[in-house]
Amino acid sequence: MQFKIDNLAIKSPLILAPMSGVTNCAFRELIALTNPGAVGLFVTEFISIEALTRQNPKCFQMMKYTSTQRPISVQIFGYDLKRMVLAAKMAEDAGADIVDINSGCPAPKVVRKGGGCELMRQPEHMAKLLSGVKKEIKIPLTLKIRAGWDSDSRNALEISKLAEESGVSMLAIHGRTKAEGYRGFADWDIIGNVAEELSIPVVGSGDVTDIESAKKSLESGVKGLMIGRASLSNPWVFREIHQQLNGNDYQVPSYAETIDLMQHYLELLLKEMPEKGAIGKMKQIASQVTRRVPGSKPIRHRLTRSQSLSEFDSHLEAWRSELLGGSFDKEFDSPNSEDRELLKTNYEARTC
Ligand SMILES: Cc1cc2nc3c(=O)[nH]c(=O)nc-3n(C[C@H](O)[C@H](O)[C@H](O)COP(=O)(O)O)c2cc1C
Repeated sequence: MQFKIDNLAIKSPLILAPMSGVTNCAFRELIALTNPGAVGLFVTEFISIEALTRQNPKCFQMMKYTSTQRPISVQIFGYDLKRMVLAAKMAEDAGADIVDINSGCPAPKVVRKGGGCELMRQPEHMAKLLSGVKKEIKIPLTLKIRAGWDSDSRNALEISKLAEESGVSMLAIHGRTKAEGYRGFADWDIIGNVAEELSIPVVGSGDVTDIESAKKSLESGVKGLMIGRASLSNPWVFREIHQQLNGNDYQVPSYAETIDLMQHYLELLLKEMPEKGAIGKMKQIASQVTRRVPGSKPIRHRLTRSQSLSEFDSHLEAWRSELLGGSFDKEFDSPNSEDRELLKTNYEARTC
């Protein structure tokens, strides 16, 4: 189930989706090390062409990667043609294997300035951006779109054809409109329709969480699947799906491995950022990954309210003893309404 983006071999159909505020270098490293051989492509968080071309150091940090995170695609967003070309060249110079343009972000602060999903409403400008960038870089150019702007404008197919004609080498579609945000379910029929019509590889995105959803999504005819949110709640998800797609059994990691994973992530984060940044990211993963452990609500509460990393770590160690001693409630915790609100705010604040 390999495919190629131009001459670049994508050895697994499973791709780590770009997620702003999540898929930084440390998170990609965690996913790479937790899922050896199972991730075909890593995508960075989206990077503003306005900030990157003004040499904002944070953007250079966002383009950093390690040798385990290859191939790597650097995703950029914005509107201005000159800056888009310059930003793409900067990503290429930084060592990206692919440059991806974001045309799916629904965030008001992005679309108001003409970037993200707004490009789907401006096909002529989109074509200029794509062919302008394509001429200036040697690595493959890819595009990520949504199903459309809203239910009256589901123009993914029109935009995809235009993208192919403009030199894009792979197209990814999140099967929701901008208006839908993250509500409801991704429409895999529209994704399948685009996959059928295009000669370049098409990758689908939306609600792939396990082997069943992966198999069903692959039936649409796409070459690859992007996995986003499920990688936070189940960072082993790539290995889980990859092994089962290849007919192998999958050994579900033990509950205690959830703690090992969080401690490993903390080490990776501290190589990249100060404690203040790291604690935010640790709370982000803790609020999700702990849900796989029955009876984890009290610990989740303590972890997500920790004031320092040492407090966080001492809660983890106490939890480890509890888990090993078996003194935890076996009933599964589904998110309560307060948790759901927190998650929604997190997603809506950051999403694209
Ligand atoms: C927190 C968050 C941040 C996201 N940031 C980006 C982004 O920077 N660029 C992008 O193209 N898509 C972004 N997305 C969309 C995802 O790449 C993906 O298309 C979407 O979440 C649907 O896939 P999923 O159901 O596997 O999460 C983001 C999604 C989430 C939840």
